[in-house]
Amino acid sequence: MIYQSTALHFDKQSCHIYVGENLLSQPDVLIPHITGHQVMIVTQDTIAEHYLKPLQALLSDYQCDVITLPQGEQYKTIEQWLKILDALIAHNHERSTTLIALGGGMIGDITGFAAACYQRGTNFIQIPTSLVAQVDAAIGGKTAVNHATGKNKMGVIYQPSCVISDVNFLKTLPEREFIAGLAEVIKYGLVCDATFFVWLEKNMSALLAKENKTLQHAIATCAALKAQVVQQDEKDLGLRHILNLGHTFGHALETANEYQVILHGEAVAIGIALATKLSAELGWLTSKDVTRILQLLAQANLVKTVFDFPSAADFIRTMRQDKKIHAGKLNLILLKSIGVAVKTSQVSEAQLMSFLENEKKRGVISE
Ligand code: GLY
Repeated sequence: MIYQSTALHFDKQSCHIYVGENLLSQPDVLIPHITGHQVMIVTQDTIAEHYLKPLQALLSDYQCDVITLPQGEQYKTIEQWLKILDALIAHNHERSTTLIALGGGMIGDITGFAAACYQRGTNFIQIPTSLVAQVDAAIGGKTAVNHATGKNKMGVIYQPSCVISDVNFLKTLPEREFIAGLAEVIKYGLVCDATFFVWLEKNMSALLAKENKTLQHAIATCAALKAQVVQQDEKDLGLRHILNLGHTFGHALETANEYQVILHGEAVAIGIALATKLSAELGWLTSKDVTRILQLLAQANLVKTVFDFPSAADFIRTMRQDKKIHAGKLNLILLKSIGVAVKTSQVSEAQLMSFLENEKKRGVISE
């Protein structure tokens, strides 16, 4: 059953986002978005185990090939990307083919990048199975692979023709990954919707219990908020940067931990806590707001994982390599208030260095 359907319209194409439950049992959701007579599903074993058969059953009228990739952000590499292209060539896929990403953010990013490059661009569908991907990664067309020096260094913006987010997928998601996804959900309240932040404060227990209606409301709200931002700045040239709240810090943590110890959402949660405290240091957030934000992160069981917090110097070095640095200036996304994020280059490297040194000493979640 579809709970919400949102359409994003770009110059040459549209992207439909469906949020609901049992969406793979409804052919009229997926099938209208398939072009040509061939489909390549890109997935992972743990996802295939649960959802590949129902998807293949829906696609019985098509030449339907499957490639499974190893699990984990550390495999979002140019080598795995090439495997997708090799499989498309080996199975004689034509330019009219459709690539379907069935999995979390890593599968969506690498499949989208393969779709953008195969024969200069094929149709592409996102079926995100993780919370991070349903509320953020699968929407807006960011596709990429990682480089040894940092995350998402190679990629393009390439829109899927649709995104199908089924809340029932989250029932088989490992608990740690579900919790990590809550960081991105909280981000949307902080960045652009104070009312949604208040809703989250009231409904976090129901979300943690994976109550279907609550999940659908949260995912549909994040999808609609992201759609509004992406619609205004598809190419990520200005406004869209606010969606990177917590990400510049987070990517530095992920890179320092080689993508293995810390999940993307966990790194974003720590990044949000750091951005919150730095915003307060600039006098933008009140101490009451800081407490509310840290409490919500704690209520969601975030910012608790043990991981390697790099030295302030290493942190800044990795942040400098992050592609969000322009003209040598470290641009940070910080909060003016709950619901209002801004991009600033007003924090000096020295100020950031001493802030990070203090945070390393006192532990990020403490007030
Ligand atoms: N994840 C942030 C964006 O898509 O712009």
